[in-house]
Amino acid sequence: MSPFRLTRTLPEDAAGAALRADVLAGLTGSPKTLPPKWFYDARGSELFEEITALPEYYPTRAEREILLARSGEIAAVSGARTLVELGSGSSEKTRHLIAALDGLHTYVPVDVSESALTGAGRALAAERPGLEEVHALVADFTAELPLPDTPGPRLVAFLGGTIGNLLPAERAAFLASVRALLAPGDALLLGTDLVKDVRTLVRAYDDAAGVTAAFNKNVLHVVDRELGADFDPDAFDHVALWDAEQEWIEMRLRSRIAQSVKIPALEMVVDFAEGEELRTEVSAKFRREGVRAELSAAGLELSRWWTDGEGRFALSLSVAR
Ligand code: SAH
Ligand code: TRP
Repeated sequence: MSPFRLTRTLPEDAAGAALRADVLAGLTGSPKTLPPKWFYDARGSELFEEITALPEYYPTRAEREILLARSGEIAAVSGARTLVELGSGSSEKTRHLIAALDGLHTYVPVDVSESALTGAGRALAAERPGLEEVHALVADFTAELPLPDTPGPRLVAFLGGTIGNLLPAERAAFLASVRALLAPGDALLLGTDLVKDVRTLVRAYDDAAGVTAAFNKNVLHVVDRELGADFDPDAFDHVALWDAEQEWIEMRLRSRIAQSVKIPALEMVVDFAEGEELRTEVSAKFRREGVRAELSAAGLELSRWWTDGEGRFALSLSVAR
């Protein structure tokens, strides 16, 4: 069994302070917004795992199909000895890649959800005798990452289409910071969901069983618990819309009634009109040329592009110049 280590890069109260700042900025702006990383407390991580198994939510299955078919090639091209995975969640799909990376020394899963990391890391460490170490980082992947000093070549994986949850300007800054983690010749493995028919896209974010609705509303439970707020999640409806111009799915929570919500930790009261919407998340969808251009602007050269059999999702491998 490989040893499992976990490092918290955020001081104990940093999450609290950041949440207060985000909620204050997001709920005093117009339109109101809440940033997506606060979905993922322990319950949010569990709900996301349920989403990945829904019949409507194709991205996880499509990406797993590609990883199963291409892990050998990814291993051969990257020769990675260190695999860093951003927003690793359960690391479930990553197992296929880890198994294919023969010379792998250390796996570094990075996530804001400590419960997801401990669950995934322990299972992996027990499963993979060839690996020297699993070194999990509780960290925000949009901030500077103090990666452990481990042997190269380094492969950074960012799967699940999570890059689509960043806004375009955030994406450019993020890709530049990923590039800064790489030496020339090191690689990025990126999962991007693709533009497709609107019905398939919307259903993936508005499933019949209501799991995505519960996931979306979980952010209100987080604000209630952490900031003592009195959001009633049942007083909001889950909304998923396709924005054809931006080519993203937008998740919102629509107030069913006119209401005032108290947030004691911020000494504030937030008013919602009936029907007023709060934006909680975007999930951008991509095309090959756009991905190539964004990577290139960050100093990364697209070298492989694979899709699932139905062309719904792409996994790309790019190399640092
Ligand atoms: N990679 C997994 C999980 C995707 S869900 C998969 O493909 O199935 C997105 C993951 O990113 C969640 O585990 C969430 O906790 C994490 N996450 C979201 N925002 C983050 C941030 N700013 N920093 C670190 N992790 C983040
Ligand atoms: N990275 C996932 C995606 O964009 C996250 C996600 C799936 C999500 N379903 C969601 C985020 C619903 C918020 C609400 O596909």
